[in-house]
Amino acid sequence: MQRTLIWDLPTRLFHWTLASSFAIAWLTSEGDRWRSIHVFFGYLMLGLVVFRLVWGFTGSHFSRFASFWFGPKEALDYLKQVATGHAPRHVGHNPTGSLAIYILLAMALIVSLTGIVTLGGDEQQGVAAGWFTFSQIQLLRSIHNFGAIGMLLVVIGHITGVVVESVMHKENLARSMVTGFKQAPASTPKATARPLVAALMLLAMLGFGGWWFTYAIDRTIDNQNWHIKLETGIGEEPHVKFVGKQLADNKLWRDECGACHAVFYPALLPTRSWQKIMAEQDKHFGSDLGFDAVTTEAILKFMVDNAAEKHVVEAAFKIEQSIPAGVTPLRVTETPYWLNKHREIAASDWANPLVQSKSNCAACHADADDGTFEDGAMHIPKPDEPEPKRQHKTSVVRKIFGRSADLRPRKCSWVDQEKVCNPLGLKAFCPWRNNRRIHFDTSEFFAGNVKTELVRD
Ligand code: HEC
Ligand code: HEC
Repeated sequence: MQRTLIWDLPTRLFHWTLASSFAIAWLTSEGDRWRSIHVFFGYLMLGLVVFRLVWGFTGSHFSRFASFWFGPKEALDYLKQVATGHAPRHVGHNPTGSLAIYILLAMALIVSLTGIVTLGGDEQQGVAAGWFTFSQIQLLRSIHNFGAIGMLLVVIGHITGVVVESVMHKENLARSMVTGFKQAPASTPKATARPLVAALMLLAMLGFGGWWFTYAIDRTIDNQNWHIKLETGIGEEPHVKFVGKQLADNKLWRDECGACHAVFYPALLPTRSWQKIMAEQDKHFGSDLGFDAVTTEAILKFMVDNAAEKHVVEAAFKIEQSIPAGVTPLRVTETPYWLNKHREIAASDWANPLVQSKSNCAACHADADDGTFEDGAMHIPKPDEPEPKRQHKTSVVRKIFGRSADLRPRKCSWVDQEKVCNPLGLKAFCPWRNNRRIHFDTSEFFAGNVKTELVRD
């Protein structure tokens, strides 16, 4: 018996990074707060498994699959031997341990791959964003969740095996996976350390991590000083924002439906709601939208193409599911899902001058304009908070109207009631005055003949 190198450096590095990745991914799996870390370690596990598959053919003797190619029968026989206390010592992996390794590799592969697809369908993020809708990935998501639980059970089995074996043969197996050395007969094949491969592995992992946390993750929202300082206890502060999916956009819809209030992304209501809103556009919450047939059709098409049933975002799916059949809500704020999600918000937060209306989504959702409603873009403003600098796509009218054209209660009064001009080529109008559309005249506006004024209630 002599001290012999059994596990080469890459195998040990693989073992411990896979173990820690699994542990970290497990701990960061709840909620959105640590999502980007969870996903990072998921990708890392995938990379590690791919490496191990290659290393199973190219590594040193005991790292090769050929050295521990045991089937379930041998694994069971070995377990029986263990039970009788007469299990032979294996310098490399024993048959039961080998089986655990194959199962863990397969499960790590399945869990990381289904994770990527789940992220793509659930949050519309990552490489698989847009592959599936929220409803389509329900099964894949269960595989991901149950796969992870299954993996945990195998890990527990594996650790138990290591402890039993260590006690039985009076050798510390965990330590040998750290040092690489074991006591073995002189005839045992020796491993070579392969430090260069291990160094390359380390470099690849660090490089991936550096890229991930500095470039791959969009921190623009987090960097805004007003971003989520939720002392209110509602929602969670995400550690780092993940790059979200860009939803389909339409200029006509944005210009027309964003003229009086911030746009409500089509995904927030089902098709039948949009159809009803357009059909009853002459009495749109007290206003007459007055769109011609062509405009109506074009806007409706965009809305139907991206309506809640299309599940382009998680919220769309949940909103659609929450509305009882036969009910056609005209307000997003009347859908059960919306009500449920916002029920914990305090009355004082709604009354905040920066919020004022339930329909003022952008007050709390920085990405309301984009329609994504990412958790990372959520924020309940505090009364004394400075107004955030947001880059709204529908900012034109807001610039004219002042603070914003969100749906907060207020009155407009036009100094020159008949001739109000359109400074930026928009058909701007004041819905709170006669509920009628007023067409602007650009030259008048710039000549200073027209003044606009906001009177708040
Ligand atoms: C003439 C001004 C005006 C235009 C243009 C306009 N709206 Fe509205 N909209 C209103 C008013 C006023 C309300 C009611 C605000 C309130 O009571 O909170 C409203 C409310 C809504 C709501 C309900 C919001 C909620 O509480 O969930 C939806 C949805 C909506 N509008 C969709 C649209 C769509 C789609 C278009 C484009 C086709 C559009 N609006 C164009 C004035 C307008
Ligand atoms: C007063 C601030 C506020 C306003 C205004 C507001 N929200 Fe929210 N919203 C929140 C908070 C806080 C949450 C998180 C609730 C939770 O997860 O418990 C949330 C959650 C959501 C979610 C779920 C996001 C997810 O993935 O969990 C959606 C969708 C949403 N809001 C849409 C809207 C829409 C649409 C509007 C406008 C009609 C709106 N919200 C107005 C504060 C607000």
